[in-house]
Amino acid sequence: MTTLGIPEVRERRTPTRIGKRYLVRTFGCQMNEHDSERMSGLFEVDGMVPAADVADADVVLINTCCIRENADNRLYGNLGQLKAVKDERPDLRILVGGCLAQKDRDLVMAKAPWVDVVFGTHNLHRVLTLLDHAEEWGPVTEIWEETASIDDVPSSLPSHREVPHSAWVTITIGCNNACTFCIVPTVRGKEISRRPADIVREVRALAADGVSEVTLLGQNVNSYGRDLGLEGSRRPIFADLLRRVGEVEGIRRIRFTSPHPKDIRIDVLEAMAETAAVCEQLHLPLQSGSARVLRAMQRGYTPERFLEKLRLAEATIPGLATSTDIIVGFPGETESDFQQTLDVVEEARFDGAYMFIYSPRPGTAAATMGGQIERGVASERFARLTSLQQRISLEKNVALIGSTVEVLSEGASRKDASMITARTRTNKVVHVAGIQPSGAFLHARIDRAAPSHLMGTPV
Ligand code: 5AD
Ligand code: SF4
Repeated sequence: MTTLGIPEVRERRTPTRIGKRYLVRTFGCQMNEHDSERMSGLFEVDGMVPAADVADADVVLINTCCIRENADNRLYGNLGQLKAVKDERPDLRILVGGCLAQKDRDLVMAKAPWVDVVFGTHNLHRVLTLLDHAEEWGPVTEIWEETASIDDVPSSLPSHREVPHSAWVTITIGCNNACTFCIVPTVRGKEISRRPADIVREVRALAADGVSEVTLLGQNVNSYGRDLGLEGSRRPIFADLLRRVGEVEGIRRIRFTSPHPKDIRIDVLEAMAETAAVCEQLHLPLQSGSARVLRAMQRGYTPERFLEKLRLAEATIPGLATSTDIIVGFPGETESDFQQTLDVVEEARFDGAYMFIYSPRPGTAAATMGGQIERGVASERFARLTSLQQRISLEKNVALIGSTVEVLSEGASRKDASMITARTRTNKVVHVAGIQPSGAFLHARIDRAAPSHLMGTPV
């Protein structure tokens, strides 16, 4: 087993695996989805084509996540199944990347020595080099340690996009916060911002390639630019970036995720309101409605301050839809703390929420706190929170019945081939009667509503 230090083949690559088939399995968040698209793009540069399943794959990549679940079980379960395939077909190449690989590389190799390559969160641009190395010299692992630099951001890598008109664009990697429940700073390192000119160049290239919608990605987009040197008279900030991306011709929708409630300010809200392409959509993670729990989470705001910022955003951006993340069952959360979360959710009236049961991540401060909540209690709270949010989401969607909205088609609906699935600027899913190609913009009248989608007719 080799680690680190393999020189990278930087010159333009001649495809060496023409016609071979690759399969990518992605666990986790949008960052991982984005990373998987990049790695698929690299496999295709090398001549490979997508495989339908493991049975016809020559290369299988598992892109792991360790944010919310015990990804271990899932990874080792997958690797167990792959071992049987590899016993029959020793030429099968098995690669493991992402957060869990970054954190546990030696363990992965020790538990599953049939794996060919283990690589970390900032090493994905090296996937072909590592694969070449493994084929010639045997299993290899590589993670970033304190070496990550801006050049590790996969800015110029080709990409295989799942939805051709829609693309993710990384603006920062890593996170400088220290939320006590969160493993991200450990596995993704210190925050590094990409230079604005590089981001704008990438967005222009995407627009030239037919992309009309981009989602800017970072763990805390509001702190974008804090690490960048002066540009002109002052350093670039996220509000500037929104405006600059907003000038790129052909980009009609800009989204971003996630801002941090402690850092979002009026300058960003004004840039959202004043930049036509920026969608009327804000994802602002609340995590808890209890001031005490927020303090224990080290989130840096109170519920009152959160609600003030939310109201300011709604007042500044007409037609804004909001969403959030909430964790239930954080260590020490009492029934009264939980009730405060319900109260804030009731008051905030988010259009949608991603809700999670707290899961201790080894290595985080919260994992060793006293007062860990029993699973049954957390599940029961989770159910109450979910039903409250469902009611609110439904009420907000019902209020849209009769209105006409611009939607962007994602192609035929998976459930009903006589309809398309499309999205509003506010990021709501609408099933619209009739067929329109993926990437088409149209207007639809909303006829019916459910908590998580709308039904409409083209106008
Ligand atoms: N347990 C449960 N949810 C978590 N999240 C992050 N870490 C944990 C954890 N240990 C959730 C937060 C975050 C979202 C991306 O994942 O709500 O905003
Ligand atoms: Fe994790 Fe907090 Fe950073 Fe988000 S801001 S990635 S929750 S540490």
